[in-house]
Amino acid sequence: KGDTRVPPSLVRYELLHEDASGSRARRGRLHTPHGLIETPIFMPVGTVGSVKGVGPDDLLTLDAQIILGNTYHLMLRPGDDLVGEMGGLHRFISWDRPMLTDSGGFQVFSLAEKRKITEEGAAFQSHLDGRHILLTPERSIEIQETLGADIIMAFDECPPSTEDRAYLEKSLARTTRWLQRCVKAWSRERSSLFGIVQGGLDKNLRKSHAEDVCAVDLPGYALGGYSVGETPEAMHEGVAFSAPLLPRDKPRYLMGVGTPVDLVTCVEHGVDMFDCVLPTRCARNGLLFTSEGKVVIRNATYARDPRPADPACSCYTCRNFSRAYLRHLFVAGEILAMRLNTLHNLHYFLNLMKDVRQAIAEDRYTAFARDFRDKARAQES
Ligand code: GUN
Ligand code: ZN
Repeated sequence: KGDTRVPPSLVRYELLHEDASGSRARRGRLHTPHGLIETPIFMPVGTVGSVKGVGPDDLLTLDAQIILGNTYHLMLRPGDDLVGEMGGLHRFISWDRPMLTDSGGFQVFSLAEKRKITEEGAAFQSHLDGRHILLTPERSIEIQETLGADIIMAFDECPPSTEDRAYLEKSLARTTRWLQRCVKAWSRERSSLFGIVQGGLDKNLRKSHAEDVCAVDLPGYALGGYSVGETPEAMHEGVAFSAPLLPRDKPRYLMGVGTPVDLVTCVEHGVDMFDCVLPTRCARNGLLFTSEGKVVIRNATYARDPRPADPACSCYTCRNFSRAYLRHLFVAGEILAMRLNTLHNLHYFLNLMKDVRQAIAEDRYTAFARDFRDKARAQES
Protein backbone atom coordinates (compact mmCIF):
# COMPACT_ATOMS: atom_id res chain seq x y z
CA LYS A 1 0.00 0.00 0.00
CA GLY A 2 1.28 3.46 -0.95
CA ASP A 3 4.03 1.86 -3.02
CA THR A 4 3.73 3.51 -6.44
CA ARG A 5 6.75 1.79 -8.04
CA VAL A 6 5.92 0.07 -11.30
CA PRO A 7 8.06 -2.17 -13.50
CA PRO A 8 9.71 -0.01 -16.20
CA SER A 9 7.75 -1.81 -18.91
CA LEU A 10 4.44 -0.64 -17.49
CA VAL A 11 2.67 2.61 -18.23
CA ARG A 12 3.27 5.27 -15.58
CA TYR A 13 1.24 8.46 -15.20
CA GLU A 14 3.00 11.64 -14.20
CA LEU A 15 0.63 14.36 -12.99
CA LEU A 16 2.28 17.61 -14.08
CA HIS A 17 -0.24 20.28 -13.19
CA GLU A 18 -3.80 20.78 -12.03
CA ASP A 19 -5.75 23.74 -13.43
CA ALA A 20 -6.07 26.47 -10.81
CA SER A 21 -9.05 28.23 -12.38
CA GLY A 22 -11.69 26.06 -10.70
CA SER A 23 -11.91 23.10 -13.08
CA ARG A 24 -10.73 19.52 -12.50
CA ALA A 25 -8.59 19.57 -15.67
CA ARG A 26 -5.08 18.11 -15.39
CA ARG A 27 -1.92 18.20 -17.47
CA GLY A 28 0.05 14.99 -17.36
CA ARG A 29 2.36 12.60 -19.09
CA LEU A 30 2.05 8.88 -19.77
CA HIS A 31 5.32 7.01 -19.95
CA THR A 32 4.95 3.92 -22.15
CA PRO A 33 7.35 1.36 -23.67
CA HIS A 34 6.94 3.17 -27.02
CA GLY A 35 7.44 6.67 -25.68
CA LEU A 36 5.75 9.63 -24.02
CA ILE A 37 2.17 10.78 -24.35
CA GLU A 38 1.19 14.30 -23.31
CA THR A 39 -2.26 14.34 -21.69
CA PRO A 40 -5.09 15.22 -22.11
CA ILE A 41 -4.92 13.35 -25.41
CA PHE A 42 -7.19 12.29 -28.27
CA MET A 43 -6.43 8.86 -29.79
CA PRO A 44 -7.27 8.32 -33.48
CA VAL A 45 -9.00 4.98 -34.06
CA GLY A 46 -7.31 2.36 -36.24
CA THR A 47 -9.87 -0.40 -35.84
CA VAL A 48 -8.42 -3.04 -38.19
CA GLY A 49 -4.80 -1.90 -37.96
CA SER A 50 -5.20 1.21 -40.08
CA VAL A 51 -6.50 4.68 -39.29
CA LYS A 52 -8.88 4.76 -42.24
CA GLY A 53 -7.74 7.02 -45.04
CA VAL A 54 -4.26 7.89 -43.77
CA GLY A 55 -0.91 6.14 -43.32
CA PRO A 56 1.58 6.06 -40.46
CA ASP A 57 3.65 8.77 -42.20
CA ASP A 58 0.57 11.05 -42.18
CA LEU A 59 -0.01 10.26 -38.50
CA LEU A 60 3.56 11.25 -37.68
CA THR A 61 3.14 14.51 -39.62
CA LEU A 62 -0.08 15.12 -37.64
CA ASP A 63 1.91 14.27 -34.49
CA ALA A 64 -0.61 11.66 -33.32
CA GLN A 65 0.92 10.40 -30.08
CA ILE A 66 -1.02 7.14 -29.74
CA ILE A 67 -3.53 5.20 -31.86
CA LEU A 68 -6.10 2.55 -31.04
CA GLY A 69 -6.71 -0.94 -32.40
CA ASN A 70 -9.53 -3.43 -31.84
CA THR A 71 -9.24 -6.97 -30.49
CA TYR A 72 -12.61 -7.94 -31.97
CA HIS A 73 -11.73 -7.03 -35.56
CA LEU A 74 -8.11 -8.19 -35.51
CA MET A 75 -8.88 -11.60 -33.94
CA LEU A 76 -11.35 -12.27 -36.77
CA ARG A 77 -9.19 -10.83 -39.55
CA PRO A 78 -6.29 -11.35 -40.08
CA GLY A 79 -6.18 -13.25 -36.74
CA ASP A 80 -4.07 -12.50 -33.67
CA ASP A 81 -1.80 -15.51 -34.37
CA LEU A 82 -0.93 -14.07 -37.79
CA VAL A 83 -0.18 -10.61 -36.34
CA GLY A 84 1.97 -12.29 -33.67
CA GLU A 85 3.82 -14.24 -36.35
CA MET A 86 4.49 -10.94 -38.16
CA GLY A 87 6.18 -9.55 -35.05
CA GLY A 88 3.22 -7.90 -33.33
CA LEU A 89 0.88 -5.06 -34.23
CA HIS A 90 3.50 -2.29 -34.04
CA ARG A 91 5.70 -3.95 -36.65
CA PHE A 92 2.78 -5.28 -38.71
CA ILE A 93 1.35 -1.78 -39.29
CA SER A 94 4.72 0.03 -39.10
CA TRP A 95 3.87 2.26 -36.15
CA ASP A 96 6.48 2.61 -33.43
CA ARG A 97 4.65 5.04 -31.18
CA PRO A 98 2.30 3.95 -28.39
CA MET A 99 -0.79 1.88 -29.14
CA LEU A 100 -3.88 0.87 -27.16
CA THR A 101 -6.22 -2.02 -27.92
CA ASP A 102 -9.82 -2.36 -26.77
CA SER A 103 -10.80 -5.72 -25.31
CA GLY A 104 -13.52 -6.76 -27.76
CA GLY A 105 -16.39 -6.88 -25.29
CA PHE A 106 -17.97 -3.66 -26.47
CA GLN A 107 -17.61 -4.57 -30.16
CA VAL A 108 -19.20 -8.01 -29.63
CA PHE A 109 -22.32 -6.25 -28.37
CA SER A 110 -22.44 -3.73 -31.19
CA LEU A 111 -21.30 -5.85 -34.17
CA ALA A 112 -21.60 -9.60 -33.65
CA GLU A 113 -24.63 -11.62 -34.60
CA LYS A 114 -26.44 -13.92 -32.14
CA ARG A 115 -24.33 -13.07 -29.12
CA LYS A 116 -24.84 -14.65 -25.74
CA ILE A 117 -23.24 -13.49 -22.50
CA THR A 118 -22.50 -16.05 -19.80
CA GLU A 119 -20.21 -16.15 -16.77
CA GLU A 120 -17.59 -17.73 -19.04
CA GLY A 121 -17.59 -14.85 -21.56
CA ALA A 122 -19.28 -13.75 -24.77
CA ALA A 123 -20.25 -16.38 -27.34
CA PHE A 124 -21.01 -14.91 -30.74
CA GLN A 125 -20.98 -15.41 -34.47
CA SER A 126 -18.48 -13.44 -36.53
CA HIS A 127 -20.01 -10.56 -38.52
CA LEU A 128 -17.63 -11.55 -41.34
CA ASP A 129 -18.28 -15.27 -41.90
CA GLY A 130 -20.68 -16.45 -39.19
CA ARG A 131 -18.00 -18.48 -37.39
CA HIS A 132 -18.83 -19.39 -33.76
CA ILE A 133 -16.40 -17.76 -31.34
CA LEU A 134 -16.08 -17.61 -27.56
CA LEU A 135 -14.35 -14.52 -26.24
CA THR A 136 -13.42 -14.78 -22.57
CA PRO A 137 -11.46 -12.45 -20.29
CA GLU A 138 -8.46 -14.82 -20.54
CA ARG A 139 -8.66 -15.02 -24.33
CA SER A 140 -9.04 -11.22 -24.69
CA ILE A 141 -5.90 -10.64 -22.63
CA GLU A 142 -4.04 -13.34 -24.56
CA ILE A 143 -4.98 -11.72 -27.88
CA GLN A 144 -4.11 -8.21 -26.69
CA GLU A 145 -0.74 -9.38 -25.35
CA THR A 146 -0.02 -11.13 -28.67
CA LEU A 147 -0.89 -7.92 -30.53
CA GLY A 148 1.51 -6.21 -28.10
CA ALA A 149 -0.20 -2.86 -27.46
CA ASP A 150 1.25 -0.61 -24.75
CA ILE A 151 -2.17 -0.33 -23.12
CA ILE A 152 -4.71 -3.15 -23.08
CA MET A 153 -8.27 -2.99 -21.79
CA ALA A 154 -10.18 -5.24 -19.42
CA PHE A 155 -12.92 -7.42 -20.91
CA ASP A 156 -16.21 -5.81 -19.92
CA GLU A 157 -19.89 -5.82 -20.68
CA CYS A 158 -21.52 -2.54 -21.67
CA PRO A 159 -25.17 -3.41 -20.99
CA PRO A 160 -27.87 -1.47 -22.88
CA SER A 161 -29.37 1.28 -20.69
CA THR A 162 -32.78 -0.25 -21.44
CA GLU A 163 -32.01 -3.28 -19.22
CA ASP A 164 -33.66 -3.36 -15.80
CA ARG A 165 -31.80 -2.66 -12.60
CA ALA A 166 -31.58 -6.32 -11.60
CA TYR A 167 -29.82 -7.16 -14.87
CA LEU A 168 -27.50 -4.14 -14.57
CA GLU A 169 -26.41 -5.20 -11.06
CA LYS A 170 -25.78 -8.74 -12.26
CA SER A 171 -23.82 -7.44 -15.25
CA LEU A 172 -21.63 -5.13 -13.14
CA ALA A 173 -20.79 -7.89 -10.66
CA ARG A 174 -19.85 -10.15 -13.58
CA THR A 175 -17.70 -7.43 -15.19
CA THR A 176 -15.88 -7.15 -11.85
CA ARG A 177 -15.27 -10.92 -11.79
CA TRP A 178 -14.11 -10.70 -15.41
CA LEU A 179 -11.65 -7.96 -14.34
CA GLN A 180 -10.21 -10.29 -11.70
CA ARG A 181 -9.82 -13.00 -14.35
CA CYS A 182 -8.13 -10.46 -16.69
CA VAL A 183 -5.68 -9.53 -13.92
CA LYS A 184 -4.85 -13.22 -13.38
CA ALA A 185 -4.29 -13.79 -17.09
CA TRP A 186 -2.19 -10.62 -17.51
CA SER A 187 1.57 -11.27 -17.77
CA ARG A 188 2.60 -7.64 -16.93
CA GLU A 189 5.47 -8.04 -19.35
CA ARG A 190 4.86 -5.47 -22.05
CA SER A 191 1.24 -4.34 -21.92
CA SER A 192 -0.42 -2.31 -19.16
CA LEU A 193 -3.94 -3.31 -18.18
CA PHE A 194 -6.59 -0.64 -17.62
CA GLY A 195 -9.82 -1.43 -15.74
CA ILE A 196 -13.21 -0.24 -17.03
CA VAL A 197 -15.97 1.22 -14.84
CA GLN A 198 -19.52 0.65 -16.09
CA GLY A 199 -22.86 1.57 -14.49
CA GLY A 200 -24.65 3.64 -17.13
CA LEU A 201 -26.22 6.85 -15.86
CA ASP A 202 -27.14 5.44 -12.43
CA LYS A 203 -24.95 7.20 -9.85
CA ASN A 204 -25.26 4.52 -7.19
CA LEU A 205 -24.27 1.78 -9.64
CA ARG A 206 -21.40 3.91 -11.00
CA LYS A 207 -20.08 4.63 -7.52
CA SER A 208 -20.15 1.04 -6.34
CA HIS A 209 -18.61 -0.28 -9.57
CA ALA A 210 -15.89 2.41 -9.45
CA GLU A 211 -15.06 1.24 -5.91
CA ASP A 212 -14.85 -2.39 -7.02
CA VAL A 213 -12.71 -1.66 -10.11
CA CYS A 214 -10.41 0.83 -8.38
CA ALA A 215 -9.83 -1.62 -5.51
CA VAL A 216 -7.70 -3.49 -8.06
CA ASP A 217 -4.33 -1.73 -8.39
CA LEU A 218 -3.88 -1.04 -12.11
CA PRO A 219 -1.82 1.41 -14.25
CA GLY A 220 -4.99 3.20 -15.38
CA TYR A 221 -8.79 3.28 -15.33
CA ALA A 222 -11.46 3.92 -17.94
CA LEU A 223 -15.08 5.03 -17.96
CA GLY A 224 -17.14 2.85 -20.30
CA GLY A 225 -20.83 2.88 -21.08
CA TYR A 226 -21.09 6.51 -22.16
CA SER A 227 -22.08 7.97 -25.52
CA VAL A 228 -24.38 5.01 -26.14
CA GLY A 229 -27.52 6.97 -27.01
CA GLU A 230 -27.99 9.35 -24.05
CA THR A 231 -28.03 13.14 -24.59
CA PRO A 232 -24.70 15.02 -24.45
CA GLU A 233 -25.95 16.81 -21.31
CA ALA A 234 -26.70 13.50 -19.55
CA MET A 235 -23.29 12.15 -20.56
CA HIS A 236 -21.50 15.28 -19.30
CA GLU A 237 -23.35 15.07 -15.97
CA GLY A 238 -22.46 11.39 -15.67
CA VAL A 239 -18.78 12.01 -16.37
CA ALA A 240 -18.73 14.98 -13.97
CA PHE A 241 -19.89 12.53 -11.28
CA SER A 242 -17.74 9.52 -12.26
CA ALA A 243 -14.35 10.96 -13.24
CA PRO A 244 -13.56 12.12 -9.68
CA LEU A 245 -14.32 8.57 -8.44
CA LEU A 246 -11.15 7.41 -10.23
CA PRO A 247 -7.73 7.75 -8.53
CA ARG A 248 -6.07 11.13 -8.94
CA ASP A 249 -2.64 9.60 -9.56
CA LYS A 250 -3.67 7.37 -12.49
CA PRO A 251 -4.73 8.17 -16.08
CA ARG A 252 -8.48 8.42 -16.69
CA TYR A 253 -9.76 7.29 -20.08
CA LEU A 254 -13.27 8.06 -21.36
CA MET A 255 -14.02 5.41 -24.00
CA GLY A 256 -15.66 6.22 -27.33
CA VAL A 257 -16.09 9.99 -26.76
CA GLY A 258 -16.67 12.29 -28.57
CA THR A 259 -17.43 15.64 -30.22
CA PRO A 260 -15.13 18.65 -29.74
CA VAL A 261 -17.52 20.03 -27.09
CA ASP A 262 -17.55 16.60 -25.35
CA LEU A 263 -13.74 16.55 -25.19
CA VAL A 264 -13.44 20.10 -23.87
CA THR A 265 -16.18 19.50 -21.29
CA CYS A 266 -14.96 16.11 -20.07
CA VAL A 267 -11.38 17.37 -19.70
CA GLU A 268 -12.93 19.96 -17.38
CA HIS A 269 -14.23 17.06 -15.27
CA GLY A 270 -10.78 15.45 -15.04
CA VAL A 271 -10.56 13.07 -18.03
CA ASP A 272 -7.12 12.53 -19.61
CA MET A 273 -7.68 10.27 -22.62
CA PHE A 274 -10.31 9.97 -25.36
CA ASP A 275 -10.89 7.93 -28.51
CA CYS A 276 -13.59 8.23 -31.13
CA VAL A 277 -14.23 7.42 -34.78
CA LEU A 278 -15.96 10.79 -35.21
CA PRO A 279 -13.16 12.76 -36.95
CA THR A 280 -12.23 9.92 -39.32
CA ARG A 281 -15.77 8.69 -40.05
CA CYS A 282 -17.15 12.21 -40.57
CA ALA A 283 -14.24 13.02 -42.87
CA ARG A 284 -15.16 10.10 -45.12
CA ASN A 285 -18.74 11.41 -45.21
CA GLY A 286 -17.59 14.91 -46.15
CA LEU A 287 -18.17 16.54 -42.76
CA LEU A 288 -15.33 18.81 -41.67
CA PHE A 289 -14.82 20.18 -38.14
CA THR A 290 -13.56 23.76 -38.36
CA SER A 291 -13.03 26.83 -36.20
CA GLU A 292 -16.13 28.23 -37.96
CA GLY A 293 -18.27 25.19 -37.13
CA LYS A 294 -19.16 22.15 -39.22
CA VAL A 295 -18.64 22.31 -42.97
CA VAL A 296 -20.60 19.90 -45.18
CA ILE A 297 -18.22 19.98 -48.09
CA ARG A 298 -20.61 18.63 -50.77
CA ASN A 299 -22.90 21.67 -50.36
CA ALA A 300 -23.24 23.71 -53.56
CA THR A 301 -22.32 26.84 -51.58
CA TYR A 302 -18.69 25.68 -51.70
CA ALA A 303 -18.57 25.02 -55.46
CA ARG A 304 -16.72 28.30 -56.15
CA ASP A 305 -15.28 28.93 -52.69
CA PRO A 306 -11.54 29.64 -52.98
CA ARG A 307 -10.96 29.61 -49.19
CA PRO A 308 -9.42 26.65 -47.36
CA ALA A 309 -11.74 24.32 -45.41
CA ASP A 310 -10.73 26.18 -42.25
CA PRO A 311 -8.97 29.54 -42.69
CA ALA A 312 -7.56 29.20 -39.15
CA CYS A 313 -6.08 25.74 -39.79
CA SER A 314 -2.45 24.96 -40.62
CA CYS A 315 -2.93 21.35 -41.78
CA TYR A 316 -1.69 20.05 -45.15
CA THR A 317 -5.22 20.14 -46.60
CA CYS A 318 -5.91 23.73 -45.54
CA ARG A 319 -2.46 24.99 -46.56
CA ASN A 320 -2.85 23.65 -50.11
CA PHE A 321 -6.46 23.23 -51.23
CA SER A 322 -9.66 25.24 -51.62
CA ARG A 323 -13.15 24.26 -50.51
CA ALA A 324 -14.03 24.26 -54.22
CA TYR A 325 -11.43 21.56 -54.89
CA LEU A 326 -12.38 19.50 -51.81
CA ARG A 327 -16.02 19.66 -52.89
CA HIS A 328 -15.12 18.59 -56.40
CA LEU A 329 -13.07 15.62 -55.11
CA PHE A 330 -15.89 14.56 -52.81
CA VAL A 331 -18.65 14.85 -55.43
CA ALA A 332 -16.45 12.97 -57.94
CA GLY A 333 -15.96 10.19 -55.39
CA GLU A 334 -12.17 10.52 -55.49
CA ILE A 335 -10.13 8.58 -52.90
CA LEU A 336 -8.07 11.72 -52.29
CA ALA A 337 -11.17 13.41 -50.84
CA MET A 338 -11.20 10.95 -47.94
CA ARG A 339 -7.49 11.36 -47.27
CA LEU A 340 -7.51 15.18 -47.34
CA ASN A 341 -10.69 15.38 -45.24
CA THR A 342 -9.29 12.87 -42.72
CA LEU A 343 -6.00 14.75 -42.45
CA HIS A 344 -7.90 17.94 -41.70
CA ASN A 345 -10.31 16.46 -39.14
CA LEU A 346 -7.56 14.63 -37.26
CA HIS A 347 -5.48 17.81 -37.27
CA TYR A 348 -8.47 19.69 -35.84
CA PHE A 349 -8.97 17.18 -32.97
CA LEU A 350 -5.25 16.84 -32.16
CA ASN A 351 -4.71 20.59 -32.32
CA LEU A 352 -7.74 21.16 -30.08
CA MET A 353 -6.11 18.91 -27.46
CA LYS A 354 -2.88 20.89 -27.81
CA ASP A 355 -4.86 24.09 -27.05
CA VAL A 356 -6.52 22.27 -24.15
CA ARG A 357 -3.13 21.31 -22.66
CA GLN A 358 -1.85 24.87 -23.03
CA ALA A 359 -4.95 26.36 -21.36
CA ILE A 360 -4.52 23.98 -18.39
CA ALA A 361 -0.83 24.78 -18.09
CA GLU A 362 -1.72 28.48 -17.98
CA ASP A 363 -4.49 28.03 -15.38
CA ARG A 364 -7.22 29.41 -17.64
CA TYR A 365 -9.12 26.23 -18.42
CA THR A 366 -12.49 27.28 -17.02
CA ALA A 367 -12.64 30.31 -19.34
CA PHE A 368 -11.28 28.26 -22.25
CA ALA A 369 -14.02 25.65 -21.90
CA ARG A 370 -16.76 28.25 -21.42
CA ASP A 371 -15.66 30.25 -24.47
CA PHE A 372 -15.39 27.08 -26.58
CA ARG A 373 -18.93 25.99 -25.71
CA ASP A 374 -20.32 29.52 -26.26
CA LYS A 375 -18.74 29.66 -29.70
CA ALA A 376 -19.98 26.17 -30.61
CA ARG A 377 -23.50 27.06 -29.51
CA ALA A 378 -23.45 30.26 -31.60
CA GLN A 379 -22.28 28.29 -34.64
CA GLU A 380 -25.06 25.73 -34.28
CA SER A 381 -27.79 28.39 -34.39
N1 GUN B 1 -15.74 1.76 -26.27
C1 GUN B 1 -16.73 2.66 -26.05
N2 GUN B 1 -17.41 2.35 -24.92
C2 GUN B 1 -16.85 1.22 -24.44
C3 GUN B 1 -17.12 0.40 -23.29
O1 GUN B 1 -18.03 0.65 -22.49
N3 GUN B 1 -16.32 -0.71 -23.11
C4 GUN B 1 -15.31 -1.01 -23.99
N4 GUN B 1 -14.57 -2.10 -23.77
N5 GUN B 1 -15.03 -0.25 -25.07
C5 GUN B 1 -15.80 0.84 -25.28
ZN1 ZN C 1 -7.10 21.91 -41.99
